[in-house]
Amino acid sequence: MRNAGMSRYASRRFLFRPMILGIETSCDETAASVASNEGVVLSDIVRSQADHARYGGVVPELAGRRHIEVIDEVVREALSRARIEVEDLTGVAVTAGPGLVGALLVGLAYGKAVAYARKIPLVPVNHLDGHMSAAQLCPDPVTPPFVALIASGGHTNLYAVRAWESCELLGRTLDDAAGEAFDKAAKMLGLAYPGGPIIDRLARHGNSDRVKLPRPYPSREDLNFSFSGLKTSLLYHLRDLKAAGAAPVLEDVAAAFEKAIVTVLVEKTLAAAKRTGIRDVVVTGGVAANSLLRSLFKLCGPQAGVKVHIPSLHYCTDNAAMIAVAGARLARAGQSAGLDCEPRPGWSLGEA
Ligand code: KG4
Ligand code: ZN
Repeated sequence: MRNAGMSRYASRRFLFRPMILGIETSCDETAASVASNEGVVLSDIVRSQADHARYGGVVPELAGRRHIEVIDEVVREALSRARIEVEDLTGVAVTAGPGLVGALLVGLAYGKAVAYARKIPLVPVNHLDGHMSAAQLCPDPVTPPFVALIASGGHTNLYAVRAWESCELLGRTLDDAAGEAFDKAAKMLGLAYPGGPIIDRLARHGNSDRVKLPRPYPSREDLNFSFSGLKTSLLYHLRDLKAAGAAPVLEDVAAAFEKAIVTVLVEKTLAAAKRTGIRDVVVTGGVAANSLLRSLFKLCGPQAGVKVHIPSLHYCTDNAAMIAVAGARLARAGQSAGLDCEPRPGWSLGEA
């Protein structure tokens, strides 16, 4: 046993490769990952903060405090799972935005400390670039050009990614993000936070035809989304039921709400592929963990002549592997920042 351990250690030293540490603390997940410079993930630790559930949403001050409590432990675990020491790192990639400023600050400060102590480059990563970079972590990895749908708790964006450094925002939500709509609907139904996965599970046992909800189209011509009207329709539906002394069938409501959101996400993404002539589509962000969304894309993509790439569930929701992989790519392109770099809570991507 001892020999095996020693030879592993020796071979690690012998086969030394550049290694980058990825850190993600933009919202309520504290995550750290180690990836090789070529983007091979060696470890990937995510610590979700359960504390927010009882408040029905993320409490920014609480998120920042929890990140401070666990970040060191999470980073150490990522290094140990990757079987490397902090001395082996050749770069640190950290989410610098968009996100909650107090949460971003924790990851950034930790990343700066490692970069300073080890004299290695600090690479700030845009969280949306991270989600997009999960394209490289799909079972069938893909590089640009591709169309990307990022649907999460904070964003619903459609991009034409013609090259890694050239992405164009084709459409976005005009109000609530898709994940936010799921979470708000769940709250109305008395379900816990985050509501997306709960609605997903309930919907599997429901019949969407039993509840009439409108399809959320702000316009059929452009590639923007709008989900706040759907949320209001659900509110009226529940109010009418209550007035009639009836209770909602949660499974049916969940199925109808999910179908309304997922249908428009699939239709507009495939329309974006058609409009741009790009044949590969990447679907990512927390909402890409939705089972109906995944199966509908797999069904409709090939019918539209499009290859759809969806990361595994773990790489759809917030994680640090996507940040490490994006950071490795940026580092290869020579990008890094000084230790005076600040969090960018409103950092946009691909906007004109
Ligand atoms: O990407 P993510 O982990 O964090 C943000 O950057 O926002 O996305 C979280 C969002 C939440 O709104 C959550 O309810 C939603 O993704 N979500 C889902 C599912 N899993 C997570 N929505 C629908 N179905 C799911 N299975
Ligand atoms: Zn995210």
